[in-house]
Amino acid sequence: MDVKAQRLEGRVAVVTGGASGIGLATVRRLAAEGAHVVIGDLDPAAGKAAADEAGGLFVATDVTDQAAVENLFQQAFDTYGSVDIAFNNAGISPPDDNSILDTGLEAWRKVQEVNLTSVYLCCKAAIPYMQRQGKGSIINTASFVAVMGAATSQISYSASKGGVLAMSRELGVEFARQGIRVNALCPGPVNTPLLTELFAKDPERAQRRLVHVPMGRFGEPEEIAAAVAFLASDDSSFITANTFLVDGGISGAYVTPL
Ligand SMILES: NC(=O)c1ccc[n+]([C@@H]2O[C@H](COP(=O)([O-])OP(=O)(O)OC[C@H]3O[C@@H](n4cnc5c(N)ncnc54)[C@H](O)[C@@H]3O)[C@@H](O)[C@H]2O)c1
Repeated sequence: MDVKAQRLEGRVAVVTGGASGIGLATVRRLAAEGAHVVIGDLDPAAGKAAADEAGGLFVATDVTDQAAVENLFQQAFDTYGSVDIAFNNAGISPPDDNSILDTGLEAWRKVQEVNLTSVYLCCKAAIPYMQRQGKGSIINTASFVAVMGAATSQISYSASKGGVLAMSRELGVEFARQGIRVNALCPGPVNTPLLTELFAKDPERAQRRLVHVPMGRFGEPEEIAAAVAFLASDDSSFITANTFLVDGGISGAYVTPL
């Protein structure tokens, strides 16, 4: 990628879920802006390939496992000497999480663990490094569903993202005077392989959603990555505890253009 600004020269960025989708696009963007990128992901093949491409490091990590998460941040620090940016982004959206009436406790808990407990663990591991440095930027991936309701429910997913949003806000406030910024990134629906495949098979399902997007299209992973790079960089130095929506205008819309 031809990125002229080198806003992240020499910074160390930990990215969870960096092997695919939004995480992968962000790994590429942060590396293009000069960061050393450390990927924590479950998928060793795709994770290693992404790290090699970005000239960074892959650490096999299950983000629901406290020891594994601590090891991820320790490896980042031991290899590159600091932890400047944490993009806590790994998440799942499984099909057995839907209406509250049909979603069992096991399905509920699984999504809470991967989407919410993981962010707690990653922030808990990252903050002490940043306190010692007196500086750091944490970006936690929530979603536009943290601020809007959907009749096509994914109940545990939405609740988990609401949790990520509230936790990020609180951490942003608590650590603001220690030079640590914490923001919740709330993407709208993004063109990832899963979504493209699902909607190609079912155009009506895509249309039901697209009608709510003022821009009339889904986002691209690179557009989300650009927002992460901004939040990671000093260009966002007065932004913390923020609900950072990157959603094509969905959350602001009542009637959309024809
Ligand atoms: N795609 C969208 O439309 C959209 C919209 C809003 C928010 N989000 C959020 O953005 C984030 C990334 O989504 P994506 O669409 O890029 O997903 P994706 O499925 O393309 O990538 C997710 C990555 O997380 C990894 N992962 C899953 N469980 C893990 C675990 N326990 N430990 C470590 N790694 C794990 C996967 O291996 C994968 O590489 C998620 O938090 C998701 O909820 C996505």
